[in-house]
Amino acid sequence: MRLILCSPMDMHLHLRDGNMLRAVAPLSAKNFSAAIVMPNLIPPVTSEQMAQSYKKRILEATKGEDFEPLMTLFFKSDYNYDFLKRVKEDIAAIKLYPAGITTNSQGGVENFSLEALAPTLEAMSELGIPLCVHGETSGFVMDREAEFIPIYERIAKRFPNLKIIMEHITTKAAVEALLRYENLYATITLHHLYITLDDVIGGLMRPHLFCKPVAKRPEDRMALRKVAFMAHDKVMFGSDSAPHPRSAKEAPGCAAGVFSAPVALPALAQLFEAADVLENLQKFVSDNAQKIYGLTPPAKKVKLIKKSWRVPDRYGNVVPMFAGEELGWRVDEDTAA
Ligand code: DOR
Ligand code: ZN
Repeated sequence: MRLILCSPMDMHLHLRDGNMLRAVAPLSAKNFSAAIVMPNLIPPVTSEQMAQSYKKRILEATKGEDFEPLMTLFFKSDYNYDFLKRVKEDIAAIKLYPAGITTNSQGGVENFSLEALAPTLEAMSELGIPLCVHGETSGFVMDREAEFIPIYERIAKRFPNLKIIMEHITTKAAVEALLRYENLYATITLHHLYITLDDVIGGLMRPHLFCKPVAKRPEDRMALRKVAFMAHDKVMFGSDSAPHPRSAKEAPGCAAGVFSAPVALPALAQLFEAADVLENLQKFVSDNAQKIYGLTPPAKKVKLIKKSWRVPDRYGNVVPMFAGEELGWRVDEDTAA
């Protein structure tokens, strides 16, 4: 059995910089035709020049592949209209992080009042720049996403023309909010479709499955699966693949992030096939995102074949999701691209 995906895209990806970028970017570039690249570097990507030079480094690291890095800026409340108008050519979206909520988000937003956010949001809305949001408060870890929903609602109501993407949603509550507002959309990761918190800490602790937002309950996973499996028009695939060196994951203070880029498409095919909805995968990994963002990625066919393979224990010094396990589908490297 085989499946050809046309221009699969990863709408939420961490590529890092330097050696890590050079190690992980080719793995995404091989399987995807484009990806929304997160700006949480140190320092974060906040200027036209930083976005352009980061894009250049990504293209350098992925030379030879048909792969378009779609750049983002790290949200600041005081970006002005003229700056955003200029930078619009170089970016696909702006990513908002609450201050300190996850990896390299220290310079994020502290004041979520509409007055504080309005200057940037107003300009984004007028210019048609989508807003991507890491939607968590600093409350109790299992409640953070649900507590953030009123903030989504406030922004969605006040800026009806602004496309707001709820990144890596993990809860039934977020799925319900998504469906209530026309201008809300969402990305869903591979790991949140596969696991619950039980897989992370229910037995021996599995640091390579620890991420933010943390995986939630079975009923939450079920709600995510429901909209992903039907490829609901408002949802798209965003891996949130977030590589950290093994030493930062297998440590007393474990960094948050699941590295899923090299296994994402095979594991999605396996999951969609098991649910008997394989025909919806194309929409989930590309068509919906093209419509939501209004973009056309490089034309690229990626062939998946139903043939089992053993996921490597590591890619360089990074441990992937499903390390050492068998997956029932694989990318046919001869015909990728
Ligand atoms: O688990 C995560 N890792 N969640 C995020 O939001 C950021 C990411 C990272 O950059 O490592
Ligand atoms: Zn992320």
